[in-house]
Amino acid sequence: KPDFKIAPSILSANFACLGQEVDDVLAAGADIVHFDVMDNHYVPNLTIGPMVCGALRKHGVTAPIDAHLMVKPVDRLIGDFIDAGASYITFHPEASEHIDRSLQLIRDGGAKAGLVFNPATPLSYLDYVMDKLDMILLMSVNPGFGGQSFIPGTLDKLRDARSRIEASGRPIRLEIDGGVKVDNIAEIARAGADTFVAGSAIFGARRDDDAHRYDSVIGAL
Ligand code: DX5
Ligand code: ZN
Repeated sequence: KPDFKIAPSILSANFACLGQEVDDVLAAGADIVHFDVMDNHYVPNLTIGPMVCGALRKHGVTAPIDAHLMVKPVDRLIGDFIDAGASYITFHPEASEHIDRSLQLIRDGGAKAGLVFNPATPLSYLDYVMDKLDMILLMSVNPGFGGQSFIPGTLDKLRDARSRIEASGRPIRLEIDGGVKVDNIAEIARAGADTFVAGSAIFGARRDDDAHRYDSVIGAL
């Protein structure tokens, strides 16, 4: 049985009380904090940087933080996120001049390394780096925004990525990101994903007034 993990994307969280939001989703059973970094250069949006990752660690978050770097260039931010306590650091291959070196930088810093594939980005970027990967992240929406719809063609791409991981014999996590909901997550899992990012599905859920407002949606996922 695959080791499934739920990774709420904080992009859709209430940033006025981000620490509490992260505490609440973790208390409700989430496994990994998906930390969306956008630089208004690689994607047309601007979010948060290493300082906020460090603030979550200082707040007492011990769960893995999965830093999804939608930035260009990549390398300078890798060190900053390692210093800020990121557990996984993933980047888009199109955003690095030297993919192998960027992956090595992440691992040399003691974090886990991953590549992120936009919907139209071919998996051939995997051909020569499987031995340097701890995670493969497939985007099922075009990066830059939460609340978009799942791109159905991603299911075949998941199957392809899953067979590449099996063939490699390596313990590489397969993460899916974008438009994941209660009503499509089972099909996505069957296609081979084991780590599920969900932003609006979780943080957009109806908010009860008690602290356990995320239990039902995370339980459903
Ligand atoms: C989009 C981000 C995703 C996004 C997912 O560029 O990388 O992580 O926040 O949000 P939902 O689950 O709402 O599609
Ligand atoms: Zn993301």
